[in-house]
Amino acid sequence: MKNVILIWCVFLLGSFSAEVEKTIWISDMDLSLIDLEMGQAQKNKTPMGSPIVISGQTYENGVGVSAPAKFLIELNGTGKQFSAEVGPCEMKMPARPEGPAPAPAGNDKKATGNAARPAGDPMGGGARVMPSMEFFVLGDKQVLWSSGVMKSGDQPKKVDVKIDGIKKLALVVVSVSGRGPFGGLAAWGNSKITYFGDIAPKAISGKIVSGSIPRILTPSECSVPKINYPKVVGATPGKPFIFSIPVTGEKPLKVTVENLPDGLSLDSNTGILSGTSPSKKGTYSLNITVKNSLGEAKGTIDLKVGDLLALTPPMGWNSWNAGGMTVDQNKVKAAADVIAEKLRGHGWAFINIDDGWQADKRTDNGELLTNAKFSDIKGMSDYIHSKGMRFGIYSSPGPQTCGRAIGSYQHEEQDAATWARWGVDYLKYDWCSYRQIQKDNSLEELKKPYFIMRDALAKTNRDVVYSLCQYGMGDVWKWGAEVNGNLWRTTMDINDSWKSVLGTGFTQTDNYQNIGPGHWNDPDMLVVGTVGWSANTKPTKLTPDEQYAHISLWSLLASPLLIGCEMDKLDGFTLSLLTNDEVIGVNQDVLGRQARLIQKGDDYQVWAKDLADGSKAVGLFYTGVAEAAAKDPVKMINWGDEKPETAKLISIDFKALGLSGKQKARDLWSQQILGTYDGRFESEVNYHGVVLVKLSAAE
Ligand code: GAL
Repeated sequence: MKNVILIWCVFLLGSFSAEVEKTIWISDMDLSLIDLEMGQAQKNKTPMGSPIVISGQTYENGVGVSAPAKFLIELNGTGKQFSAEVGPCEMKMPARPEGPAPAPAGNDKKATGNAARPAGDPMGGGARVMPSMEFFVLGDKQVLWSSGVMKSGDQPKKVDVKIDGIKKLALVVVSVSGRGPFGGLAAWGNSKITYFGDIAPKAISGKIVSGSIPRILTPSECSVPKINYPKVVGATPGKPFIFSIPVTGEKPLKVTVENLPDGLSLDSNTGILSGTSPSKKGTYSLNITVKNSLGEAKGTIDLKVGDLLALTPPMGWNSWNAGGMTVDQNKVKAAADVIAEKLRGHGWAFINIDDGWQADKRTDNGELLTNAKFSDIKGMSDYIHSKGMRFGIYSSPGPQTCGRAIGSYQHEEQDAATWARWGVDYLKYDWCSYRQIQKDNSLEELKKPYFIMRDALAKTNRDVVYSLCQYGMGDVWKWGAEVNGNLWRTTMDINDSWKSVLGTGFTQTDNYQNIGPGHWNDPDMLVVGTVGWSANTKPTKLTPDEQYAHISLWSLLASPLLIGCEMDKLDGFTLSLLTNDEVIGVNQDVLGRQARLIQKGDDYQVWAKDLADGSKAVGLFYTGVAEAAAKDPVKMINWGDEKPETAKLISIDFKALGLSGKQKARDLWSQQILGTYDGRFESEVNYHGVVLVKLSAAE
């Protein structure tokens, strides 16, 4: 009898605990798995870091996204209810401590239109389309609830849906019109799930997992000495000069240079050249020898002293994709240390701080200061230079940067002089709040602030690589060189999704004409390694195959290569992506051509780039079908029962590439000859992956 009572009690207790209703807030889940149009979803904020506000109502708890956005949650049948208040989100930034930004001088007009930018974007372009969107709650491929089309300013709508028995729940926001940051901000306010049992609902990745096992293709680093890329470096006469000769091999190495121009000295242990560039214009061919106990290598690097910098696309590190505004001096130093140790020998040269270094106020005489995160910026710059690298900084021509820090408006000369004192070698100049200043959207107005900073930089004693960031407005590639720009962003911000890589790199089809040494299109920075736009950085969401495709395409496009990852978390796979000298050689090729799209099918593309030695670099990409157009929310989700994609055979005719005769194909990632081909090259390509080859005439 006793036993029966005991069993009965255990049963009762068990069923009681199983029946206890629990609640989990969506904001407490792993938000890095939300797939959104721009940026990264943040707890209780919009992806832009602003509070969640729907039609004037602020939500302390919730998740802001940029539409289109999707989030998949595993319930395992234990869910009871999903509830939230949803709606398009307003862009309300927290007030800055010293009050609102200065009023724009002399005009109060807003930007109106520019076809180069996504509609609805406020930073200066696009005939302004009121963003509208629709929210969906899906359960196991069924629509459980939908909001109907909602537009900016609409009252939040309440969702309360039963989710008994559902295995997978998806929260989807479909963009009806107006996308991107500001344009398509949407929020799931007070969103939560009630459930029973011990297994809490969990966010899961909605990705089809294929190509997910990192395969390192780059051969391991040679012990014998090697001289890598770039093979040319630019300087203007008589300016401070710093350049690391890119050499690898087992240490200790000894580097020597014949005919070193006066004013320059060489540290033969590191290959760091520093001093003052020659005062006479001309090409100085540096005959280099690098030796170690295993052998020696000889080669030439041309120092071209003239009017142009960035004779090959800049390669380096930028802080933005590695934590956004949270950057601090230690992170920058750590990046300099890792790059000096592992990457400098492969041509990586710049250490750039993006937004987030500025103090809240200028001094009484208008001087720009750093914030507390950068206690000794000059010391940091000296440190970067001592490692043979160059130092970059960020500002905006407007009163405020995109992260609401102080911009350089009306302080251009003063700021350029400050940066010169700090030893700055590179400036990213980001449009942001200049939209409040521009009178209209004419080309003249688009160029104006960039001319002003060009002149301010010219008054300093430094060679400053000038990076324009205005997202492609007014077809910047047609006039970027005129304002002395060395590179210019051509797209909105990248994030670590395949959709974003498709929307940035793969859209660079019609802007190859004005590209060449000194002038580069910039489809934004790299998203490999540990990335993120808040303190919460995570391994990139790109699969290994997507990462190979990303680096290959940026190399073909001769895009600047700016690593945006936490360098002290650099893993072996990411390192292998960044140290393949044959792939880097395509990017740094001295001819400076941008690859062109040669062939395109629904789910594949072939890009090719002419190289200085007369060969061609060709990338076969299995892009998959873009889901951008998807309006059916059920189809936007990978529910997990889809077949993993297999590889696809992609073939390119030599005629389409402008080639005749037999061609030798070398696989650049594995650095192996594949064979001799006649009439066409073809290869199996992994889903969202690439095969990158160099085709050269077979003898
Ligand atoms: C954006 C820019 C990003 C980053 C950010 C800083 O406009 O595109 O690359 O610089 O501003 O706030």
